Order: sequence, then structure tokens, then C-alpha cells
Amino acid sequence: MARHLITSAIPYINGIKHLGNLVGSQLPADLYARYLRGRGHEVMFLCATDEHGTPAELAAAKADKPVAEYCAEMWEVQNKIANGFRLSFDHFGRSSSEQNRKLTQHFAARLEDAGLIREVNETQMYSHADGRFLPDRYIEGTCPNCGFESARGDQCDNCTKQLDPVDLINPRSTVSGSTDLEMRDTKHLYLCQSKMKDQLEAWIDSKTDWPILTTSIAKKWLNDGDGLQDRGITRDLDWGVPVKKGDQDWPGMEGKVFYVWFDAPIEYIACAQEWEDAGKGTDWARWWRTDKGADDVTYTQFMGKDNVPFHTLSFPCTILGSGEPWKLVDYIKSFNYLNYDGGQFSTSRGRGVFMDQALEILPSDYWRWWLLSHAPESSDSEFTWENFQASVNKDLADVLGNFVSRVTKFCRSKFGEEVPAGGAFGTREEALITDLSEKIRAYESHMEAMEVRKSAGALRAIWVAGNEYLQEAAPWSTFKTDPDAAAAQIRLALNLIRLYAVLSAPFIPDASAAMLKSMKTDDDAWPDDAAAALNTLTAGHAFEVPEVLFAKITDDQREEWQSKFSGTRD
Ligand code: MF3
Ligand code: ZN
Repeated sequence: MARHLITSAIPYINGIKHLGNLVGSQLPADLYARYLRGRGHEVMFLCATDEHGTPAELAAAKADKPVAEYCAEMWEVQNKIANGFRLSFDHFGRSSSEQNRKLTQHFAARLEDAGLIREVNETQMYSHADGRFLPDRYIEGTCPNCGFESARGDQCDNCTKQLDPVDLINPRSTVSGSTDLEMRDTKHLYLCQSKMKDQLEAWIDSKTDWPILTTSIAKKWLNDGDGLQDRGITRDLDWGVPVKKGDQDWPGMEGKVFYVWFDAPIEYIACAQEWEDAGKGTDWARWWRTDKGADDVTYTQFMGKDNVPFHTLSFPCTILGSGEPWKLVDYIKSFNYLNYDGGQFSTSRGRGVFMDQALEILPSDYWRWWLLSHAPESSDSEFTWENFQASVNKDLADVLGNFVSRVTKFCRSKFGEEVPAGGAFGTREEALITDLSEKIRAYESHMEAMEVRKSAGALRAIWVAGNEYLQEAAPWSTFKTDPDAAAAQIRLALNLIRLYAVLSAPFIPDASAAMLKSMKTDDDAWPDDAAAALNTLTAGHAFEVPEVLFAKITDDQREEWQSKFSGTRD
């Protein structure tokens, strides 16, 4: 038994996430956490909401609410949806927590002591009409790179180039629309990432087993242009972690806060403290401090590719630069983008299917299966309603659901609702067991490698093997001539349902629970030995025919949803 710390990138608080966000971090992280728990490992799976920065302030202003109140409400909403998707976080924290405020200020003090912070006098856009500086998304204008007219101060949504507010052409305030702006002097703290470049590069180079997507992005940032750049870690905003050196004031930094990307990853640690403070467990440091037991923890992070620079460089710079024995990430699993029906999912334009809407039309297992089995790993992937309908109907309804239904109904009608006695496994059964043993080992190795699509394929192959067996054994024919042989076949098939429940749980936890319930067992032991696993339910063990596990998506439904989700959400 090993110990695994798993974190998913923490979603911004400003609104409900779309399915592309879900499949890029939270969902695969949940898959992995559930798998490792199923194998008997000790798992700490953490996520939180990312509540600071301009996105939160602007969304609160739009909703006409104080930002703290807005964040508290949106946390409830995101938490409820996370539960709806069965995301099995040990704790769903908040980056605006006291724990994170203290820890962020602590890290800043350590970095300052280590000589890794410098003060920079710079000019930022100041709006007379608004009486404030306009960092990041508070300012819009024309992109100097591609000419897009609504580029934000921190990034152009059209060409994705990272921008500085002062680069924008024809800049205007997103608060008031005012163009009465001037460049004003202000002072900010910069994290001296450049001083850590060699150490960071050596660390990245040692990660030879990381996905290419992860290391290539890290290398690009390390070596682009003049190499790794120092980053501003403070902002002229009200909402955020106040800039302090531990609990001491930071002269000249009054009224400023840390940049959201400085405090957000620190929340991964603070979240474990929140977990303990919420009474869910003890000794958070056992997961995070290598001097307090975390040296035997394996730490895996999940995220979309846009988050990779912050997790491969900025956050490790904070951790290493602190000089304290914090746990560094061991493996970073990153994802490409999921597109929606010929375009991009877009939060700002409300394009695509959002998490709350998805749950309104179908239970979470349908989405979990499609999203994970089509995860954008080696390249971007695309959601289309046709593909969704076809995959769900084939894999979940025809293959898995139909197997469970046929086996249980046939048994009920010929032998009653208990595992039948009589007969013995023959060569066909032995062959199936051998085949399944291999397929289970393949599934395990893909899961351990976090190859999400391949894992889904391996699980599907296990379902298919059972179906093919049933088709060839044909207990409904066997029964006519040799009821004992049919009993043995059905005994095996009922045990297969339990086996499927255990193996499928990381992908489709609700269906898995329904299968175990219908087999009237809570024995969810992992099938280390397929033969033993397929002899778990013995003659006389009662079961019941479950409700339909997966209903097929009809053409009418598909068309209805297709048109319902073709426009943009208000
Ligand atoms: N909120 C960011 C996003 O959705 C992710 C933050 S991840 C963390 O892109 F490391 F900062 F926590
Ligand atoms: Zn652009």
C-alpha cells in the first residue's frame, strides 16, 4: 500500500465550468483517485475554487454582489455540481481561506529572505473615471499581435498571446468603458524565477517519464527568447491576499494584494490544512512536508495545457525557493483541449455544454464515460452529439447494460433470483478466465500510467469479452439440453457482473454501485486473481434484477439537445 497525493487544477470561481474544463483536470484526477483507492492505496485527493484575481471581482460586479458573498455562493454551486459528477475530493477548499492567506504570506516572506523577490517601479494603466489601476482583465483593447479588438490586458483570447495591459492599442476600462487612462507609477514585487532557472531546468530534465505535452511546454518557457522571466506577483486590487511578509507589513506595498497565480497553487497545500481544520482527518503535514512523513508520498497533478507553465515553473520556484521541505510534484498529467461541435467551448461566450446543464439532461455516468473515453490526450478532441449518442448507446447500453440485463433476467426466469448451483466450468470458461486475467493486467497498467483513453479501451475490451462469451455459451440454448451446464455459465456471468462493478467503478461509479447492489454484495475487492474473483458469488447467493442501467439516447433526444445547445448561454 502506497500513499498518493492527487490535486486537480482549481477552477476559477467565476461561473459554472464547461465539459472541456471538467475533462481537462477534475475528472481524470477523480478517475485516478478512485482507481488507487480501489487498489487499496491511501489517497488524498484535493481540489478547491480559485477565488482571487480580476475574474472573480468582475463576475461579482456583474452579478451586483460583494465579491466575498459572490464567492461564497459560487463555491456552494460548484461544490454541488462536483458532487453531481461524483468527484470524490477528500476536500473541496477555497483559495480565499484563512489558511491560504497565512501560507501565501509565509511563502512570500521565505522567498524574500532567500533573496528571490525584488521590488520593481513600473507604470500601470490608471483610470481616472474609475479611480483605480486596471490590471489584467480590467482593461481591454486591440491586440498588438493579431488585431483582435477585445483582447484582455493579460491575454488575447483570439491568438492566446500573453499580454501586458500597456501593450494594448486603444485601451479602455472594462468597468466603465472609459478611455481616459494614464500611465501611472506603481511599485510591485517580482519573483526572481530567472535566478532559479538552472535548478528548475535540471529538475524538469530529470522527469524523463513525464508526458511530452508537459515537458515541451516547460522547456519552451525555460528557453524562449531571453529565457525564464521574472514574474510580477502583486497587483493593485482590493480582493486577494494582502501583501505581507509573514504577519509583518511590507513597506510600500500597502493596499496591494498578491497576484492570483501566486496564491492559487499554494491553496493545494492550504486545502490539506482546511481538510484537517474541517475535522476530516489529522496531520495534514504528513501529506505535504517531507520532514513530517511526506517523503513516501507520490504527488500527481492534473491540469489543462494552459496551466502547465505555472505548475512546472512558477509554483516549483515558490516551493524550492522557500528552502523549506515541502513536497514537490512527482508527475504532471496535462491535457489538450476538448472542442465543441466544430468550434471551441467558451465560457465567456457561453458556447458548449456546461456542467449543470449536462446533469440536467443525463446522469453523470453517461458524461463521465464519454468524456474519459475521449479525453484530449495526444491531441485536441471534439465533442459531437452524434459521437456522444453512438458511444453511449454502444458501450454503455448495448455492451455493458445489455449484458447485465440479459444475465439477470434469464437467471430469474429459469433458476430464480439466486446464483444457481450445478455444473462446472469447462474449457470455454477457463479460456475466458485466462483472457480476462490478461485484460485486467492491461487495464491496470494503463490506469497506472494515467493513459485515460487506453484505460477506457481496456475496460471496454473486458466488457466485450463477457458479451462474446455469453453469445457463444448461449445459456438459453444450453438450458434446453443441459440445465446444469447452463447453471455454471450463468454462475460465471453473475460473477462477471460483480467483477465489472469493481473494475468500472473509477469510470462509472453510480452504475458500479447499482451492479453491486443488484448482486447483493458489498465485496468490492480488486480482482488480483481473476479465477478467484469469478468464484466469489457462490450457489444460493441471492441477487435481484436491477433497473435499466443505461437507457439508449434516441435520435429525437439527440436532435433536441443538438439544437438546444447550438447557441450560446445567456
Ligand atoms: N484557476 C485556474 C484555471 O482554471 C487554475 C489554477 S490551478 C492552481 O485555469 F494551481 F493555480 F491552483
Ligand atoms: Zn491577438
